[in-house]
Amino acid sequence: LVAGDQGFGQGGGASVAAGGSAPLTILFGSESGNAEGLADRVKDSASAEGFKCKVLDMADAKLSDLAQAENLLVLVSTWGEGEPPSRASDFYDAIMAEDAVKLDGVNFSVLGLGDSSYAQFNQMGKEFDKRLEALGGTRIYNKVECDVDFEGAYTGWANGAIAKLKEIAKPVAVAGSTSAAVAGPAVAAAPIYGKANPFPAEMLKCINLNGTGSAKETVHVEISLEGSGLTYQPGDALGVVPENASDLIEEFLEAAKIDGRENVSFKEELSIPFREVLRKHLDLRTLNTVILKKYAKACDYKKLLKLSEDREKASEWIWGRDVVDLIKEYPSSLRAGDWVHLLRPLSPRLYSIASSVAAHPNEVHLTVGAVRYESFGRAKKGVCSTFIADMWEEGSTAGIYFHSNKNFKLPADSGTPIIMVGPGTGIAPFRSFIEERAATGAKGENWLFFGDQRYTYDFLYQTEWQDYLKKGVLTKLDLAFSRDQPEKIYVQDRMRENGKELWEWLDKGAYFYVCGDASRMAKDVNQALIDIVAEHGGKSEEDAIAYVKQMTKERRYGRDVY
Ligand code: 2AM
Repeated sequence: LVAGDQGFGQGGGASVAAGGSAPLTILFGSESGNAEGLADRVKDSASAEGFKCKVLDMADAKLSDLAQAENLLVLVSTWGEGEPPSRASDFYDAIMAEDAVKLDGVNFSVLGLGDSSYAQFNQMGKEFDKRLEALGGTRIYNKVECDVDFEGAYTGWANGAIAKLKEIAKPVAVAGSTSAAVAGPAVAAAPIYGKANPFPAEMLKCINLNGTGSAKETVHVEISLEGSGLTYQPGDALGVVPENASDLIEEFLEAAKIDGRENVSFKEELSIPFREVLRKHLDLRTLNTVILKKYAKACDYKKLLKLSEDREKASEWIWGRDVVDLIKEYPSSLRAGDWVHLLRPLSPRLYSIASSVAAHPNEVHLTVGAVRYESFGRAKKGVCSTFIADMWEEGSTAGIYFHSNKNFKLPADSGTPIIMVGPGTGIAPFRSFIEERAATGAKGENWLFFGDQRYTYDFLYQTEWQDYLKKGVLTKLDLAFSRDQPEKIYVQDRMRENGKELWEWLDKGAYFYVCGDASRMAKDVNQALIDIVAEHGGKSEEDAIAYVKQMTKERRYGRDVY
């Protein structure tokens, strides 16, 4: 298993030796694993500085753990519309409750993870930071709010908070060692490929899974891991480092009235052609209120400035517009170097892995929905999905890294039955699950719900599923093609039709997984699950909700939704 976030170094400071060391509690709330990965890293760094660290997942933590803490670092991500990670929701409710716990004398600092293209950016980081102080804690280092590109912000926070804690807590040096003892960086700088150092992987094959005439374009890609030394587990995700398409870059340069050949300085590189920076480093699609505000100020647009200060109106205006749309409505007076500071960095995208190494040694497969649409009179393309579908040619390489997802794993016991709900590209991890179970001869039963628009065009991996059914690897397959009949039929309708049997599977310990659209599908599937538990498990609605919550806590309800 290779985690996504690798290659951390605190900058080579001398370490205070451990022993009789000060305790440090590191509490994280994580949905996709980023906060968890960073919690492990801050633990490594703080341990090397002489702290005795205890890492706690909000999914398992109790308030009493906090009351007993002397020093506390909290790493929490914000999900959806300002919500806590799903497995952290009980802890969140508990700490926000009146008279939750007394934290007098607890030194704390908070790192928030979020995505600034959402309105409720870093809501959880803000709330936890305020709450810990309100409960009596002492903020020893200011909260840092990370955006999707969290590396720099994280490093600054970790270094700053640990230094401050050291000052206050004075971890004691071991007898015999002196504070001048140099232990070197906390983590050996092993040349491992990871997010900070993506592996240049070769594209082996890219095919469109939808038949001609489909409204969808879903590509199946096979990528080589040859020479990388990397591997992964079913349920993990793959990060892909995209580049912007030439037509978009040229559109931008023309609209912005910039040549593109001028050199600019970018990060450590002192002078590189602006066009190159656009290709690899700047996000030309994403607008947010921060960008609007800065742009309005820089170009002196009063009306736009006013708009950018009204979150709701600004979000509405941004919907469907990209950077070129902005420049077309509000012509730019900026120079190349200004754009470097204004735009968001072009960040990698994560895709649920669709293969198992047990079935395809040295390969990783993805199922990617190519995003194409038109808005404000211009054709738009999803940055990474169309980079994969159009630009990453067979035989050429692009940067990849693995991102592990501990909350979306096959049961440890290969005999445990599993139920999988994966319409559209949500099918990806379940191809990986079934391949793994088939290749390892797992005895557990497997039930798949798949749905898409039409049987004829959109039955992704059709022959593979039919084959698995025939061989008995797949125990049950239920299909919901939404547009093959006048009324819509969705995966949750099939779940309800099979409610009695679905409850029997749950009751005998089956794991339940859902992957795909978060905004509607996963919510409707969650409701169907609760209703089935209530009706067929003979429970009140309240008890059914508690049952499903408990499944989440036990990691028996895996959600990989986006
Ligand atoms: P639709 O587009 O015909 O409405 C994969 O994209 C499949 O998910 C499609 O068949 C799509 O149907 C369906 N889908 C859309 N909304 C859904 C929802 N709320 N619950 C379940 N499936 C949904």
